[in-house]
Amino acid sequence: MPLTARLQPGETLGDRVMKVDHAGEHGAICIYRAQLWFARWRAPDMVGELGVFLAHEQRHRALFGAELERRGRRRCRSYHLCGLGGFALGALTGLLGRRAIAATTVAIETVVLRHMHEQVAELSAGDPAAAGTLREVIADEQEHHDLSDRRLAPPGSWPRIINPVVEASTEAVIWLGMRL
Ligand SMILES: [Fe+2]
Ligand SMILES: [Fe+2]
Repeated sequence: MPLTARLQPGETLGDRVMKVDHAGEHGAICIYRAQLWFARWRAPDMVGELGVFLAHEQRHRALFGAELERRGRRRCRSYHLCGLGGFALGALTGLLGRRAIAATTVAIETVVLRHMHEQVAELSAGDPAAAGTLREVIADEQEHHDLSDRRLAPPGSWPRIINPVVEASTEAVIWLGMRL
């Protein structure tokens, strides 16, 4: 599916994708920060893994942030919305415990990976710097997905509850970010 965006004057599709993904990584950081806080109590054995995921997301945000700076572009208007939404989702699912935490990561990464693969396909010819940054990030996101998916087996009922909520909200912030 081709990417659609409402671009500002002088803005390229690659600029906009870097902006939206930068805001998304900020959201991911806020999710893991909140989950980590509750995991100390609700899922202590996941604290180490969540700390690694958090460090990855911080690196991703820095990578997209550096691309934005190089392009002379500001961060997305949805940046703080992503942070707040991420924090709320992370706190709620952190409180619900280990399976809800793993189900959240699987649900988010499923949507994020689908978008990132579309973005790479669209940008690799015209914006190799953006595509290169995306490829660096995709490997980590796949790892988060796979590790959490293994933790979730057998999936039980959390995905049925969490998937629609996470999918709708992730799609909504991406849609909004591409048009703001
Ligand atoms: Fe990430
Ligand atoms: Fe991730």
